[in-house]
Amino acid sequence: MRKKILFLKKYLKNPKSIGSVIPSSEFLAKAIYKSIKDLDQTTVIEIGAGTGAITQHISSLNPVLVEIDKEFCALLKKNFPHLNIVNSCALEQLKKIDEKVGLVVSIPLINNPFKSLFIPLLNNLYERGLLKWCVIFTYGLNDPLQEVKFESKERTRFVLKNIPPAHVWVYS
Ligand SMILES: C[S@@+](CC[C@H](N)C(=O)[O-])C[C@H]1O[C@@H](n2cnc3c(N)ncnc32)[C@H](O)[C@@H]1O
Repeated sequence: MRKKILFLKKYLKNPKSIGSVIPSSEFLAKAIYKSIKDLDQTTVIEIGAGTGAITQHISSLNPVLVEIDKEFCALLKKNFPHLNIVNSCALEQLKKIDEKVGLVVSIPLINNPFKSLFIPLLNNLYERGLLKWCVIFTYGLNDPLQEVKFESKERTRFVLKNIPPAHVWVYS
């Protein structure tokens, strides 16, 4: 309950950056985990880990967590002491990537100025062969990463038991 209240508080302060009123459901997190399991094994980076709702279900993959909010980071450090947690803007971390990675993206892209800087970075990493795959969820119907030149893209799952219901997209 405390996590939900903290999340709502953050949403009310910064709706564009948080994107939803409560953390993702376990059903969405499990759908994301299943999608990742079908992909090449590589270093996993979760950007926008929030209170760890998805992390909880993918922690066996030892993801690096990147989260911009200090308070969320403190919570993540407490709950996932074995994981590497970086309190930073995802854009800064993406610029530093020098090995093959898979990205789990939770940062909302709709009406978010972050997107205009994020897309070129993804295109650059993909062209250099460093971005192997990307898994993202979205509440809308449209392809959230249509500007990135992935060879393959698929809307793999629709999760009704999430507020709001969400689509999972997989790119590689
Ligand atoms: C929709 S919430 C998702 C939280 C969690 N992954 C979940 O599914 O419940 C988006 C998260 O992305 C974080 N975020 C937003 N912009 C960010 C950025 N530029 N770099 C890193 N994290 C960011 C927010 O603080 C928030 O925790």
